[in-house]
Amino acid sequence: MKAKLRIAIDGPAGAGKSSAARGLAQRLGYVYIDTGAIYRALAWRAIQQGLDVERHAEAIADIAGRMQVEFRGTDGGQHIFVDGEDLERQVRLPEVGAMSSPVSAIPLVRQNLLQLQRDLAAGGGVVMEGRDIGTVVLPDAEMKVFLTATAEERARRRFEQLKGDHPEVTFEQVLAEQEERDRRDSSRAVAPLRKADDAHELVTDGMSLDEVIDRLARMARGMESDADV
Ligand code: DC
Repeated sequence: MKAKLRIAIDGPAGAGKSSAARGLAQRLGYVYIDTGAIYRALAWRAIQQGLDVERHAEAIADIAGRMQVEFRGTDGGQHIFVDGEDLERQVRLPEVGAMSSPVSAIPLVRQNLLQLQRDLAAGGGVVMEGRDIGTVVLPDAEMKVFLTATAEERARRRFEQLKGDHPEVTFEQVLAEQEERDRRDSSRAVAPLRKADDAHELVTDGMSLDEVIDRLARMARGMESDADV
């Protein structure tokens, strides 16, 4: 029987992590766990309850410690359920995404979400995607990938996504904002974005999504056979 791996995929925003992680999970018959959605769901709950990151950090961390999170397949793909409620639509709202960043920087929030994330990965057969999966959440994951792309390539992809709805935005603006965000994410005191020493780094410039998934699937199959049980 093939071993069921725990695969950690980390990297900066815009590197194509989510599509690659979802595609890889599908290819391997594994469960895809989007940890960003957990921080987003917490941000949604905080907004709903009128909580503010500056004044109510402890109350927000308290919710984090009590949330029941499940990823379930639905007709519309895999959705995040919190305390039994489908929050997939809410977690994708731009204002919820914006709030999720300061929420994820609260140290007690990260601590209180640790066990929940580990429990979700406990049985193996998972592709878990985030910022600190290989370094903090699953330091002993069997396969770790740091997926990235050059700043120009990531900004170009983001610019292509944005320009239909926001014709006023320039590439230079997108690049400048992203550089600022990269600086913040890698220099913050709590769980800075960092490649785990034993992670495979994959720079996706010039690669199609299929090529990225092929490469990762080959790596995973090699490891599944090495670890045959
Ligand atoms: O990947 P995303 O945009 O859905 O993530 C939402 C926010 O949560 C983003 O600010 C980064 C943060 N995050 C984190 O700090 N650690 C993770 N493991 C996943 C996401």
